Amino acid sequence: MRHRINTFIVPAPFFIEMLLPACIRHIHKPSRWNHIPAINLRNRRQTVANFRASSISTASTAEATSVMAQDGPTIQHPLQVAKRLEKFKTTIFTQMSSLAIEHGAINLGQGFPNFDGPDFVKDAAIQAIKDGKNQYARGYGVPDLNSAIASRFHKDTGLTVDPEKEITVTSGCTEAIAATILGLINPGDEVIVFAPFYDSYEATLSMAGAKITCITLRPPDFSLPIQELKSKLSKNTRAILMNTPHNPTGKMFTHEELDQIASLCIENDVLVFSDEVYDKLSFEMDHISIASLPGMYERTVTLNSLGKTFSLTGWKIGWAIAPVHLIWGVKQAHSYLTFATSTPMQYAAAAALRAPDSYYEELRKDYKAKKEILVSGLKSVGFNVYPSSGTYFVVVDHTPFGLPDDVSFCEYLIKEVGVVAIPTSVFYLDPNEGKNLVRFTFCKDEETLRNAVGRMKKRLAPK
Ligand SMILES: Cc1ncc(COP(=O)(O)O)c(C=O)c1O
Repeated sequence: MRHRINTFIVPAPFFIEMLLPACIRHIHKPSRWNHIPAINLRNRRQTVANFRASSISTASTAEATSVMAQDGPTIQHPLQVAKRLEKFKTTIFTQMSSLAIEHGAINLGQGFPNFDGPDFVKDAAIQAIKDGKNQYARGYGVPDLNSAIASRFHKDTGLTVDPEKEITVTSGCTEAIAATILGLINPGDEVIVFAPFYDSYEATLSMAGAKITCITLRPPDFSLPIQELKSKLSKNTRAILMNTPHNPTGKMFTHEELDQIASLCIENDVLVFSDEVYDKLSFEMDHISIASLPGMYERTVTLNSLGKTFSLTGWKIGWAIAPVHLIWGVKQAHSYLTFATSTPMQYAAAAALRAPDSYYEELRKDYKAKKEILVSGLKSVGFNVYPSSGTYFVVVDHTPFGLPDDVSFCEYLIKEVGVVAIPTSVFYLDPNEGKNLVRFTFCKDEETLRNAVGRMKKRLAPK
């Protein structure tokens, strides 16, 4: 593992008592995040005692905040976070997006479109607000949305689900993931994830006290290492948490791979939590929901949301679909996480999901064109671009440019080239595994993509 111990003025005992544990899993960060003012020594002892008493630990060596005391001088307070979350830092997406603003860089990092969602969906939201659909919604979703989700799922998978009994509407897929994990996983249960993985998985599994077992998907095709999966399944395995199409690689699990996962799950009585937020962004092959394979619906929670498909990532409307015996736990967790999600947006989401097939065809066509601009551009710059079948991401090998790891490369790219990418080491349990790879997104208008490629062609040369 890579560590960079920050250099700042802090007395040794304080460092050892308070800060070292947080450093142990400190993901290598560029030096610009490493500045912390000297800690006010007068308050140090008392601060340490306070933290011990409350079992709260510091967030990070790099994070502290100044507070103007009501009746005295300004003091430095290390940020506080419960132990279950102390190893997680400010998400890389937030960090890279703020750096992008600071350096006027073109943001091909975080996966949000720089264009708006469709008018018919926005109009439906406005109408719902005007119609007074503004109070708490039913906890598991407004009936109109549950029924639109069930129809869409039937169209996509051939499965018929009861909209009232087998669907829970959540605040984005992120909450659906959290509700599924918190509602169905007991402390100590083993959950298998495939690295690289969407960053909320590890944090949420940690909050649930799960034991994470990680299987790495490796370039060039990020295919399923079936023997490793077989060897890592045990009687303690409760679930496999998977994602197809896959962020960050763009890999889509093939029918054969899904069949292999399915038969192992059936054989070993294991659940599947399947995150399918990019299901409508599949380019090279058809998306398959693992729930639709024989014997799998009864052991699968399918997770999805509106954000990617309708370019409305800020709306945060998501859902979980599962048989009654599994959705119960999801619903229970959701009831006590958020209880219900935004009412007018749910009505608009129902209108969105009833979009004609032409909407989805157009979406794919647009994204295919964007992907072509980015992929051919990156190749012409000199990157080794790995094939991506779905999502709006591509992963490349940055090593031709001579920087030691993904974080240094991304830092260089922002500051010297004016383009943002995401270092993939943050998507792995062991950051070393992602050190040669960075992720670019093509969910931007074509001019932005061409400008970004233009900057890279001009200012980046293989060593
Ligand atoms: C794989 C994956 N799952 C879930 C989400 C979160 O979806 P939502 O914005 O609906 O919470 C994302 C967002 O980037 C994602 O990439």
